Amino acid sequence: MISPCLSINEKGHLVISGCDTVELAERYGTPLYVMSEDEIRSVCRRYRSSFEEYYQGNGKALYASKAFCCKEICRIVTEEGLDVEVVSGGELYTALQAGISPENIHFQGNNKTVSELEFAVNSGVGDIVVDNLSELYKLQKIAAKQGTIVPISLRIKPGIDAHTHEFIRTGQIDSKFGIDLTSGEALEAVKMAAGMREVSLRGLHCHVGSQIFEKEPFVHAAEVMLNFFAEIKQKLSVEFDFLNLGGGFGIHYVEEDDAIPYEEYMAAVSEAVHRKCGELGLPLPKIYIEPGRSIVGEAGITLYTVGNILEIPTVRNYVSIDGGMYENPRYALYQAQYTCLIANKANQPADYIATVTGKCCESGDLIQEHTSIQRPEEGDILAVLSTGAYNYSMASNYNRNVRPACVMVSEGKSRIVIKGETYDDLLRNDI
Ligand code: LLP
Repeated sequence: MISPCLSINEKGHLVISGCDTVELAERYGTPLYVMSEDEIRSVCRRYRSSFEEYYQGNGKALYASKAFCCKEICRIVTEEGLDVEVVSGGELYTALQAGISPENIHFQGNNKTVSELEFAVNSGVGDIVVDNLSELYKLQKIAAKQGTIVPISLRIKPGIDAHTHEFIRTGQIDSKFGIDLTSGEALEAVKMAAGMREVSLRGLHCHVGSQIFEKEPFVHAAEVMLNFFAEIKQKLSVEFDFLNLGGGFGIHYVEEDDAIPYEEYMAAVSEAVHRKCGELGLPLPKIYIEPGRSIVGEAGITLYTVGNILEIPTVRNYVSIDGGMYENPRYALYQAQYTCLIANKANQPADYIATVTGKCCESGDLIQEHTSIQRPEEGDILAVLSTGAYNYSMASNYNRNVRPACVMVSEGKSRIVIKGETYDDLLRNDI
């Protein structure tokens, strides 16, 4: 099984954290997002202990909540000692409502609005990651008006090209995120920010991409950023408290995914940071990382009921499910790969080639094409694995479908953490 929280029981049913998925589908209905609390906690602990083991505990992981933002997940990750990264007023509001203390919140985003910035400043957010000069000036004004000093870091575009899907690559020069390092713009921005009384510049941030399977881009980013630290120290006599290396650690969607154990990133980055700081005569900064997908991705599955099966000879077999691109748009957007299986026949051979399709009025409404599953029949429960990240968070109401409920499971017990939407929810804002 591609995630440690999954197994198959004596009935041949797929089990997640001790819960029989067929029973979950019966009890809560489908489609249903299921998240394993045990797996989320276990990944958080691995990140935490790798900081202890490889970097004397001098840093931390910030959960990139865009992967799955809801109150319960914010609570779970902060109980495990992680901070929370948010990218919109809505994510910030969710984190605050979950009881996260504002100093443990980091606010990202390439075009935060004035009202979002005001909200963050008024809430006492601990780190506003300033993406560009326009934002720096907006923040300066807001801080001056409030008579406060705002803690910030600057997002730098390090000029690193990670090998991942082009839509989720961010470190290269042609990216809308961050201030360009190579043109000298970043040095100017640091000078500007360091000279402002209204902000307190604490660190620098970079992020190279997402679903990355190699250590090298992270090591390279650390080296490039520390060279910049040294240049800043020499030219501007400015020093930083932390270096944030972003997120992007790859996970297993299918067996072939060559995800490396998360500890290995920290081991490699730590070695590079120690070496570089020694060479450049810099004090060791705190290191932050921002994993999103790897905290929740493998912890999640989605359960569906199989409906119509349409076999078009010599073309393909469409297996329709009661969800679709409105609750998982990742195949439609990125041709993302997933492992699918029939949860009530999980011990049978996967010798049927299916195109799993949703119920939206759109031919591109596909969850997976030409994938091997157990022979399906109407009424079976189909499970899609590793759906914990960027599924619920990217869901929509397309075709006025309602977003499914989310159930959290732990040690054989389940509880609803997000209620399924109702038709009334759809009409809530209609006049
Ligand atoms: N930090 C920053 C600044 C980011 O932009 C991101 C992701 C992360 C951290 C977390 O990256 P992760 O550890 O989750 O890879 N919707 C796409 C993924 C977009 C990622 C955007 N930024 C998908 O479904 O694959």
